[in-house]
Amino acid sequence: MAIISPSLLSADFFNLKKDIDMLNSSEAEWLHIDVMDGRFVPNISFGTPIMKALQGKTNLVKDVHLMIVEPEKYIPEFIDLGAEYVTFHLEAAIHPHRIIQMIKNKGAKAGIALNPHQNISSIKHLINDLDLVLIMSVNPGFGGQKFIEFTIDKVKELSQLIDESGSKALIEVDGGVNSENAKTLIDAGADVLVAGNAVFSAPDPKEMIKTLKSI
Ligand code: DX5
Ligand code: ZN
Repeated sequence: MAIISPSLLSADFFNLKKDIDMLNSSEAEWLHIDVMDGRFVPNISFGTPIMKALQGKTNLVKDVHLMIVEPEKYIPEFIDLGAEYVTFHLEAAIHPHRIIQMIKNKGAKAGIALNPHQNISSIKHLINDLDLVLIMSVNPGFGGQKFIEFTIDKVKELSQLIDESGSKALIEVDGGVNSENAKTLIDAGADVLVAGNAVFSAPDPKEMIKTLKSI
């Protein structure tokens, strides 16, 4: 059974309250918050104002996915505003190890995201310091993209690295996750499933969360 982290990017921005209330009463445990800067990825989403708006409105674990350059500049503010997990992209950071320590010293959990082309071995020396590794199963930037199949093998490889190293890191899979590929991903070692389109485009989003949770 995986942790479900619905992605706010696919929510109804005109009526966020309705979607947050729905998630609060659903079986989802986390809330995935996709921050895009139009530089690291070719799209701009939202930033700290959304964290402010969510303060006191949900007990879901705030799972912040930073798709931004120079993540170290903004991480302290996200943590001050309630980010519990902060994930940044390996290639967006010049000193990833230093950023992991920064996140942990501020009392949050640290994650690194790997794009589809990146090798698992690139985080070999960081794995014991990480609380989470996010495997991108689409190229970051947009919701609703098609799942890239070869990333399943990366989940397996990461799972093996975690076992061998004794790391406690969770494996999160992000992009194109749905009720059809969820089982394969969980069997491969995924602990956390991000779902945007699959949840929010479903006729009954809460029922879809329940379905994903039951897999
Ligand atoms: C993509 C984002 C994802 C996205 C997932 O850049 O990181 O979190 O919102 O959306 P779906 O599930 O629709 O692919
Ligand atoms: Zn994401």
